[in-house]
Amino acid sequence: MNPRFEHLQKKVAPLDHEWLPDRGKKQVNMLVLGIESSCDETAAALLEDGHVVRANIIASQVNTHRSYGGVVPELASREHLRNIGVVVSSAFKEAEKKYEDIDGIAVTQGPGLIGSLLVGLSFAKAMAFALKKPLVPVNHVEGHIYSAFIENPDIAYPLLALVVSGGHSSLIYSPEPGQYQSVARTRDDAAGEAFDKLSKFLGLGYPGGPIIDMLSRQGNPKAFSFSIPKISDGSLDFSFSGFKTAALRHIEQARIKPRRTGGKTSQKILDLVASFQQSIVNTLLAQTRRAAERLRPHSIILVGGVACNSLLRQSMTAEFDKSTSEGGTKVYYPSPIYTTDNAVMIAAAGTPKLRSRPQLQLDLNAFADLRLC
Ligand code: KG4
Ligand code: ZN
Repeated sequence: MNPRFEHLQKKVAPLDHEWLPDRGKKQVNMLVLGIESSCDETAAALLEDGHVVRANIIASQVNTHRSYGGVVPELASREHLRNIGVVVSSAFKEAEKKYEDIDGIAVTQGPGLIGSLLVGLSFAKAMAFALKKPLVPVNHVEGHIYSAFIENPDIAYPLLALVVSGGHSSLIYSPEPGQYQSVARTRDDAAGEAFDKLSKFLGLGYPGGPIIDMLSRQGNPKAFSFSIPKISDGSLDFSFSGFKTAALRHIEQARIKPRRTGGKTSQKILDLVASFQQSIVNTLLAQTRRAAERLRPHSIILVGGVACNSLLRQSMTAEFDKSTSEGGTKVYYPSPIYTTDNAVMIAAAGTPKLRSRPQLQLDLNAFADLRLC
Protein backbone atom coordinates (compact mmCIF):
# COMPACT_ATOMS: atom_id res chain seq x y z
CA MET A 1 0.00 0.00 0.00
CA ASN A 2 1.34 3.39 -0.96
CA PRO A 3 1.74 5.36 2.33
CA ARG A 4 -0.11 8.31 0.75
CA PHE A 5 -3.28 6.23 0.66
CA GLU A 6 -3.05 4.54 4.05
CA HIS A 7 -5.45 6.99 5.67
CA LEU A 8 -7.99 6.21 2.95
CA GLN A 9 -7.83 2.52 3.58
CA LYS A 10 -8.25 3.06 7.28
CA LYS A 11 -11.33 5.18 6.69
CA VAL A 12 -13.14 2.44 4.83
CA ALA A 13 -13.82 -0.97 6.27
CA PRO A 14 -11.15 -3.49 5.31
CA LEU A 15 -12.22 -5.52 2.33
CA ASP A 16 -13.96 -8.43 3.98
CA HIS A 17 -17.31 -10.16 3.90
CA GLU A 18 -19.10 -6.84 4.36
CA TRP A 19 -17.91 -5.81 0.94
CA LEU A 20 -19.01 -8.91 -0.84
CA PRO A 21 -22.49 -10.13 -1.61
CA ASP A 22 -23.57 -13.00 0.55
CA ARG A 23 -24.46 -15.35 -2.26
CA GLY A 24 -22.66 -18.48 -1.28
CA LYS A 25 -19.25 -19.58 -2.48
CA LYS A 26 -20.02 -19.71 -6.20
CA GLN A 27 -21.48 -16.21 -6.26
CA VAL A 28 -23.87 -16.86 -9.07
CA ASN A 29 -25.14 -13.82 -10.95
CA MET A 30 -22.18 -11.72 -9.90
CA LEU A 31 -22.71 -8.30 -11.50
CA VAL A 32 -19.50 -6.64 -12.66
CA LEU A 33 -18.93 -3.15 -14.02
CA GLY A 34 -16.21 -3.13 -16.71
CA ILE A 35 -14.41 0.08 -17.71
CA GLU A 36 -12.15 0.37 -20.77
CA SER A 37 -10.28 3.48 -21.94
CA SER A 38 -6.93 2.24 -23.26
CA CYS A 39 -7.07 3.82 -26.72
CA ASP A 40 -9.82 5.71 -28.53
CA GLU A 41 -12.96 4.09 -27.16
CA THR A 42 -14.50 5.07 -23.83
CA ALA A 43 -16.50 2.03 -22.79
CA ALA A 44 -18.50 0.73 -19.83
CA ALA A 45 -20.40 -2.52 -19.48
CA LEU A 46 -22.40 -4.45 -16.93
CA LEU A 47 -21.89 -8.19 -17.12
CA GLU A 48 -23.65 -10.81 -15.07
CA ASP A 49 -22.16 -14.18 -14.22
CA GLY A 50 -19.22 -13.66 -16.59
CA HIS A 51 -21.21 -13.79 -19.84
CA VAL A 52 -24.72 -12.30 -19.59
CA VAL A 53 -24.42 -8.81 -21.06
CA ARG A 54 -26.72 -6.36 -19.26
CA ALA A 55 -25.23 -3.22 -20.84
CA ASN A 56 -22.53 -2.41 -23.37
CA ILE A 57 -21.86 1.29 -23.98
CA ILE A 58 -19.06 2.44 -26.29
CA ALA A 59 -18.28 6.07 -27.11
CA SER A 60 -16.01 5.94 -30.15
CA GLN A 61 -13.65 8.83 -30.84
CA VAL A 62 -13.14 7.89 -34.46
CA ASN A 63 -14.53 11.21 -35.74
CA THR A 64 -12.08 13.16 -33.56
CA HIS A 65 -9.06 11.31 -34.94
CA ARG A 66 -10.18 10.72 -38.53
CA SER A 67 -8.65 13.85 -40.05
CA TYR A 68 -5.25 12.93 -38.50
CA GLY A 69 -5.32 9.38 -39.95
CA GLY A 70 -4.55 7.90 -36.51
CA VAL A 71 -5.16 8.34 -32.79
CA VAL A 72 -3.79 11.59 -31.28
CA PRO A 73 -3.00 10.70 -27.63
CA GLU A 74 -3.64 14.16 -26.16
CA LEU A 75 -7.03 14.45 -27.87
CA ALA A 76 -7.90 10.90 -26.80
CA SER A 77 -7.34 11.69 -23.07
CA ARG A 78 -9.52 14.79 -23.28
CA GLU A 79 -12.33 12.88 -25.00
CA HIS A 80 -12.17 10.13 -22.36
CA LEU A 81 -12.47 12.76 -19.63
CA ARG A 82 -15.48 14.26 -21.35
CA ASN A 83 -17.19 10.90 -21.93
CA ILE A 84 -16.39 8.62 -19.00
CA GLY A 85 -19.09 9.88 -16.59
CA VAL A 86 -21.91 9.72 -19.07
CA VAL A 87 -20.76 6.37 -20.52
CA VAL A 88 -20.76 4.74 -17.07
CA SER A 89 -24.13 6.21 -16.06
CA SER A 90 -25.60 5.14 -19.44
CA ALA A 91 -24.52 1.56 -18.75
CA PHE A 92 -26.46 1.54 -15.46
CA LYS A 93 -29.45 3.11 -17.19
CA GLU A 94 -29.41 0.54 -19.99
CA ALA A 95 -29.17 -2.34 -17.51
CA GLU A 96 -31.80 -0.76 -15.23
CA LYS A 97 -29.44 -1.22 -12.28
CA LYS A 98 -28.36 1.00 -9.41
CA TYR A 99 -24.69 1.66 -8.59
CA GLU A 100 -25.03 -0.33 -5.35
CA ASP A 101 -26.18 -3.40 -7.31
CA ILE A 102 -22.70 -4.21 -8.60
CA ASP A 103 -20.45 -6.74 -6.88
CA GLY A 104 -17.21 -5.26 -8.19
CA ILE A 105 -15.41 -3.24 -10.83
CA ALA A 106 -12.88 -4.41 -13.46
CA VAL A 107 -10.80 -1.78 -15.23
CA THR A 108 -8.15 -1.83 -17.96
CA GLN A 109 -4.71 -1.21 -16.45
CA GLY A 110 -2.68 -1.42 -19.69
CA PRO A 111 -1.22 -1.71 -22.24
CA GLY A 112 -2.37 1.43 -24.02
CA LEU A 113 -2.02 5.21 -24.08
CA ILE A 114 -1.05 6.27 -20.57
CA GLY A 115 -3.23 9.41 -20.45
CA SER A 116 -6.23 7.46 -21.71
CA LEU A 117 -5.68 4.55 -19.31
CA LEU A 118 -5.42 6.90 -16.32
CA VAL A 119 -8.85 8.40 -17.00
CA GLY A 120 -10.60 5.02 -16.76
CA LEU A 121 -8.46 3.80 -13.88
CA SER A 122 -8.93 6.93 -11.77
CA PHE A 123 -12.66 6.90 -12.40
CA ALA A 124 -12.86 3.23 -11.41
CA LYS A 125 -10.86 3.81 -8.22
CA ALA A 126 -13.08 6.72 -7.19
CA MET A 127 -16.21 4.66 -7.82
CA ALA A 128 -14.90 1.62 -5.96
CA PHE A 129 -13.91 3.80 -2.99
CA ALA A 130 -17.24 5.60 -2.86
CA LEU A 131 -19.31 2.42 -3.25
CA LYS A 132 -17.02 0.25 -1.08
CA LYS A 133 -16.79 -2.33 -3.83
CA PRO A 134 -13.79 -4.43 -4.86
CA LEU A 135 -11.77 -3.34 -7.88
CA VAL A 136 -9.50 -5.50 -10.03
CA PRO A 137 -7.08 -4.44 -12.77
CA VAL A 138 -7.29 -6.21 -16.14
CA ASN A 139 -4.70 -6.49 -18.88
CA HIS A 140 -6.29 -5.27 -22.14
CA VAL A 141 -4.89 -8.27 -24.06
CA GLU A 142 -6.42 -10.67 -21.55
CA GLY A 143 -9.67 -8.74 -22.10
CA HIS A 144 -9.45 -9.49 -25.83
CA ILE A 145 -8.90 -13.18 -25.02
CA TYR A 146 -12.02 -13.20 -22.82
CA SER A 147 -14.03 -11.55 -25.61
CA ALA A 148 -14.24 -15.00 -27.25
CA PHE A 149 -15.97 -16.39 -24.14
CA ILE A 150 -18.81 -13.84 -24.04
CA GLU A 151 -20.83 -15.75 -26.63
CA ASN A 152 -19.10 -19.12 -26.13
CA PRO A 153 -18.54 -19.62 -22.39
CA ASP A 154 -17.60 -23.29 -22.84
CA ILE A 155 -14.52 -22.93 -25.06
CA ALA A 156 -12.21 -25.86 -24.28
CA TYR A 157 -8.66 -25.43 -22.97
CA PRO A 158 -5.84 -25.55 -23.89
CA LEU A 159 -6.35 -22.73 -26.34
CA LEU A 160 -4.26 -20.76 -28.77
CA ALA A 161 -5.22 -17.10 -29.16
CA LEU A 162 -4.36 -15.02 -32.20
CA VAL A 163 -4.63 -11.46 -30.86
CA VAL A 164 -4.54 -8.99 -33.72
CA SER A 165 -5.50 -5.34 -33.33
CA GLY A 166 -4.28 -1.82 -33.94
CA GLY A 167 -1.78 -2.13 -31.10
CA HIS A 168 -1.05 -5.85 -30.76
CA SER A 169 -0.25 -8.87 -32.89
CA SER A 170 0.55 -11.96 -30.91
CA LEU A 171 -0.02 -15.65 -30.49
CA ILE A 172 -0.67 -16.64 -26.89
CA TYR A 173 -1.04 -20.17 -25.55
CA SER A 174 -3.31 -20.66 -22.57
CA PRO A 175 -3.21 -24.16 -21.01
CA GLU A 176 -5.89 -23.20 -18.47
CA PRO A 177 -7.87 -20.11 -17.43
CA GLY A 178 -5.65 -17.25 -16.29
CA GLN A 179 -2.36 -18.85 -17.48
CA TYR A 180 -0.63 -17.44 -20.51
CA GLN A 181 2.53 -18.22 -22.46
CA SER A 182 3.81 -15.99 -25.23
CA VAL A 183 4.27 -17.93 -28.49
CA ALA A 184 4.85 -15.06 -30.91
CA ARG A 185 4.70 -11.28 -30.95
CA THR A 186 5.29 -8.63 -33.57
CA ARG A 187 8.83 -7.34 -34.02
CA ASP A 188 7.60 -4.01 -35.40
CA ASP A 189 4.10 -2.83 -36.46
CA ALA A 190 0.83 -4.45 -35.42
CA ALA A 191 -1.38 -5.99 -38.13
CA GLY A 192 -4.11 -3.33 -37.69
CA GLU A 193 -1.49 -0.58 -37.87
CA ALA A 194 -0.37 -1.96 -41.27
CA PHE A 195 -3.96 -1.77 -42.58
CA ASP A 196 -4.38 1.75 -41.18
CA LYS A 197 -1.12 2.99 -42.70
CA LEU A 198 -1.81 1.63 -46.20
CA SER A 199 -5.27 3.16 -46.10
CA LYS A 200 -3.72 6.51 -45.18
CA PHE A 201 -1.18 6.33 -48.08
CA LEU A 202 -4.00 5.59 -50.53
CA GLY A 203 -6.36 8.29 -49.18
CA LEU A 204 -9.00 5.68 -48.28
CA GLY A 205 -9.85 6.86 -44.76
CA TYR A 206 -9.52 5.85 -41.12
CA PRO A 207 -9.58 3.29 -39.61
CA GLY A 208 -8.17 1.44 -42.60
CA GLY A 209 -8.96 -2.18 -41.67
CA PRO A 210 -12.71 -2.20 -42.33
CA ILE A 211 -12.29 -0.05 -45.49
CA ILE A 212 -9.63 -2.35 -46.96
CA ASP A 213 -11.70 -5.39 -45.99
CA MET A 214 -14.66 -4.02 -47.98
CA LEU A 215 -12.71 -2.74 -51.01
CA SER A 216 -10.69 -5.96 -51.29
CA ARG A 217 -13.83 -7.81 -52.40
CA GLN A 218 -13.60 -5.95 -55.75
CA GLY A 219 -9.84 -6.45 -56.23
CA ASN A 220 -7.58 -9.20 -57.53
CA PRO A 221 -5.56 -10.60 -54.58
CA LYS A 222 -2.92 -11.96 -56.96
CA ALA A 223 -2.27 -8.69 -58.82
CA PHE A 224 0.65 -7.56 -56.61
CA SER A 225 3.17 -9.77 -54.89
CA PHE A 226 4.24 -9.38 -51.26
CA SER A 227 6.85 -11.70 -49.90
CA ILE A 228 6.15 -13.14 -46.47
CA PRO A 229 8.89 -12.04 -44.04
CA LYS A 230 11.07 -14.73 -42.50
CA ILE A 231 12.42 -14.27 -38.99
CA SER A 232 15.92 -15.70 -39.12
CA ASP A 233 16.11 -16.99 -35.51
CA GLY A 234 13.37 -19.56 -36.20
CA SER A 235 10.85 -17.93 -33.84
CA LEU A 236 7.19 -17.59 -34.77
CA ASP A 237 7.29 -13.80 -34.39
CA PHE A 238 5.48 -11.55 -36.85
CA SER A 239 6.81 -8.61 -38.80
CA PHE A 240 4.47 -6.27 -40.69
CA SER A 241 6.60 -3.23 -41.51
CA GLY A 242 7.94 -4.96 -44.66
CA PHE A 243 4.39 -5.09 -46.09
CA LYS A 244 4.15 -1.33 -45.75
CA THR A 245 7.50 -0.81 -47.53
CA ALA A 246 6.53 -3.26 -50.30
CA ALA A 247 3.17 -1.49 -50.73
CA LEU A 248 4.94 1.87 -51.07
CA ARG A 249 7.19 0.35 -53.74
CA HIS A 250 4.16 -0.96 -55.65
CA ILE A 251 2.46 2.45 -55.37
CA GLU A 252 5.53 4.08 -56.90
CA GLN A 253 6.20 1.47 -59.60
CA ALA A 254 2.56 1.13 -60.73
CA ARG A 255 2.10 4.93 -60.44
CA ILE A 256 -0.91 4.55 -58.17
CA LYS A 257 -2.49 7.88 -57.23
CA PRO A 258 -4.21 8.22 -53.82
CA ARG A 259 -7.99 8.40 -54.08
CA ARG A 260 -9.30 11.96 -54.10
CA THR A 261 -11.97 12.93 -51.52
CA GLY A 262 -15.29 11.78 -52.94
CA GLY A 263 -13.50 10.30 -55.98
CA LYS A 264 -13.79 6.81 -57.48
CA THR A 265 -11.46 4.06 -56.26
CA SER A 266 -9.21 2.96 -59.16
CA GLN A 267 -8.92 -0.73 -60.08
CA LYS A 268 -5.19 -0.55 -59.26
CA ILE A 269 -6.03 0.52 -55.69
CA LEU A 270 -8.60 -2.26 -55.37
CA ASP A 271 -6.04 -4.81 -56.59
CA LEU A 272 -3.31 -3.48 -54.30
CA VAL A 273 -5.45 -3.57 -51.15
CA ALA A 274 -6.75 -7.06 -52.02
CA SER A 275 -3.19 -8.37 -52.52
CA PHE A 276 -2.02 -6.67 -49.31
CA GLN A 277 -4.87 -8.11 -47.27
CA GLN A 278 -4.33 -11.59 -48.73
CA SER A 279 -0.64 -11.58 -47.83
CA ILE A 280 -1.25 -10.36 -44.26
CA VAL A 281 -3.87 -13.08 -43.81
CA ASN A 282 -1.44 -15.65 -45.28
CA THR A 283 1.23 -14.62 -42.74
CA LEU A 284 -1.20 -14.85 -39.82
CA LEU A 285 -2.38 -18.26 -41.02
CA ALA A 286 1.14 -19.60 -41.55
CA GLN A 287 2.31 -18.66 -38.05
CA THR A 288 -0.90 -19.92 -36.44
CA ARG A 289 -0.49 -23.21 -38.31
CA ARG A 290 3.08 -23.63 -37.08
CA ALA A 291 2.07 -22.81 -33.50
CA ALA A 292 -0.93 -25.17 -33.62
CA GLU A 293 1.24 -28.02 -34.92
CA ARG A 294 3.61 -27.55 -32.00
CA LEU A 295 1.08 -26.97 -29.25
CA ARG A 296 -1.97 -28.99 -30.37
CA PRO A 297 -4.61 -26.77 -28.70
CA HIS A 298 -8.25 -27.83 -28.40
CA SER A 299 -9.45 -24.40 -29.44
CA ILE A 300 -8.13 -21.52 -31.52
CA ILE A 301 -9.58 -18.09 -30.82
CA LEU A 302 -9.28 -15.10 -33.11
CA VAL A 303 -9.62 -11.79 -31.23
CA GLY A 304 -8.80 -8.04 -31.45
CA GLY A 305 -10.03 -5.51 -34.03
CA VAL A 306 -8.37 -7.23 -37.03
CA ALA A 307 -10.34 -10.37 -36.12
CA CYS A 308 -13.30 -8.56 -37.76
CA ASN A 309 -11.57 -9.13 -41.10
CA SER A 310 -13.85 -11.28 -43.23
CA LEU A 311 -11.07 -13.02 -45.18
CA LEU A 312 -9.18 -13.84 -41.97
CA ARG A 313 -12.32 -15.26 -40.32
CA GLN A 314 -13.18 -17.42 -43.34
CA SER A 315 -9.62 -18.64 -43.80
CA MET A 316 -9.11 -19.49 -40.11
CA THR A 317 -12.35 -21.45 -39.99
CA ALA A 318 -11.63 -23.25 -43.28
CA GLU A 319 -8.16 -24.24 -42.17
CA PHE A 320 -8.49 -25.01 -38.46
CA ASP A 321 -12.14 -25.71 -37.59
CA LYS A 322 -12.05 -29.48 -37.63
CA SER A 323 -14.41 -31.93 -36.03
CA THR A 324 -13.40 -32.27 -32.38
CA SER A 325 -14.49 -35.94 -32.40
CA GLU A 326 -11.53 -36.54 -34.72
CA GLY A 327 -9.24 -34.74 -32.28
CA GLY A 328 -9.35 -31.51 -34.30
CA THR A 329 -9.52 -27.92 -33.09
CA LYS A 330 -12.55 -25.60 -32.89
CA VAL A 331 -12.20 -22.02 -34.05
CA TYR A 332 -14.02 -19.19 -32.26
CA TYR A 333 -14.23 -15.48 -32.92
CA PRO A 334 -16.53 -12.94 -31.25
CA SER A 335 -19.22 -10.86 -32.97
CA PRO A 336 -17.72 -7.58 -34.28
CA ILE A 337 -19.18 -5.57 -31.35
CA TYR A 338 -17.03 -7.62 -28.94
CA THR A 339 -14.05 -7.88 -31.30
CA THR A 340 -13.04 -4.22 -31.30
CA ASP A 341 -12.36 -2.48 -27.99
CA ASN A 342 -15.22 -2.75 -25.50
CA ALA A 343 -15.75 -3.05 -21.75
CA VAL A 344 -17.72 -6.32 -21.76
CA MET A 345 -14.45 -8.17 -22.38
CA ILE A 346 -12.82 -6.32 -19.46
CA ALA A 347 -15.70 -7.28 -17.14
CA ALA A 348 -15.47 -10.87 -18.43
CA ALA A 349 -11.74 -11.09 -17.67
CA GLY A 350 -12.27 -9.37 -14.31
CA THR A 351 -15.08 -11.66 -13.10
CA PRO A 352 -12.90 -14.67 -12.14
CA LYS A 353 -10.41 -12.30 -10.47
CA LEU A 354 -13.20 -10.70 -8.43
CA ARG A 355 -14.48 -14.15 -7.50
CA SER A 356 -11.15 -15.48 -6.34
CA ARG A 357 -9.41 -12.38 -4.97
CA PRO A 358 -11.72 -9.42 -4.39
CA GLN A 359 -9.64 -6.44 -3.34
CA LEU A 360 -9.48 -2.69 -3.49
CA GLN A 361 -6.06 -1.35 -4.34
CA LEU A 362 -6.30 2.39 -4.16
CA ASP A 363 -2.67 2.74 -5.24
CA LEU A 364 -3.32 0.90 -8.49
CA ASN A 365 -1.41 2.46 -11.38
CA ALA A 366 -1.71 2.26 -15.18
CA PHE A 367 1.12 0.98 -17.39
CA ALA A 368 1.46 1.84 -21.08
CA ASP A 369 3.48 -1.30 -21.84
CA LEU A 370 1.95 -3.79 -19.40
CA ARG A 371 2.79 -7.36 -20.45
CA LEU A 372 0.46 -10.34 -20.12
CA CYS A 373 3.22 -12.91 -20.54
O1 KG4 B 1 -9.01 -3.94 -30.95
P1 KG4 B 1 -9.10 -2.60 -31.56
O2 KG4 B 1 -10.46 -1.92 -31.57
O3 KG4 B 1 -8.13 -1.59 -30.87
C1 KG4 B 1 -6.86 -1.93 -30.42
O4 KG4 B 1 -6.73 -2.53 -29.32
O5 KG4 B 1 -5.91 -1.62 -31.19
O6 KG4 B 1 -8.52 -2.72 -33.05
C2 KG4 B 1 -8.55 -1.65 -33.97
C3 KG4 B 1 -7.83 -2.10 -35.23
C4 KG4 B 1 -7.62 -0.97 -36.25
O7 KG4 B 1 -6.27 -1.00 -36.66
C5 KG4 B 1 -8.56 -1.35 -37.38
O8 KG4 B 1 -8.09 -0.91 -38.65
C6 KG4 B 1 -8.57 -2.87 -37.28
O9 KG4 B 1 -8.59 -3.12 -35.90
N1 KG4 B 1 -9.74 -3.46 -37.93
C7 KG4 B 1 -9.68 -4.26 -39.02
C8 KG4 B 1 -11.01 -4.56 -39.37
N2 KG4 B 1 -11.84 -3.94 -38.48
C9 KG4 B 1 -11.04 -3.27 -37.59
N3 KG4 B 1 -8.62 -4.74 -39.70
C10 KG4 B 1 -8.87 -5.52 -40.76
N4 KG4 B 1 -10.12 -5.83 -41.19
C11 KG4 B 1 -11.21 -5.39 -40.52
N5 KG4 B 1 -12.44 -5.71 -40.94
ZN1 ZN C 1 -7.80 -3.66 -28.22
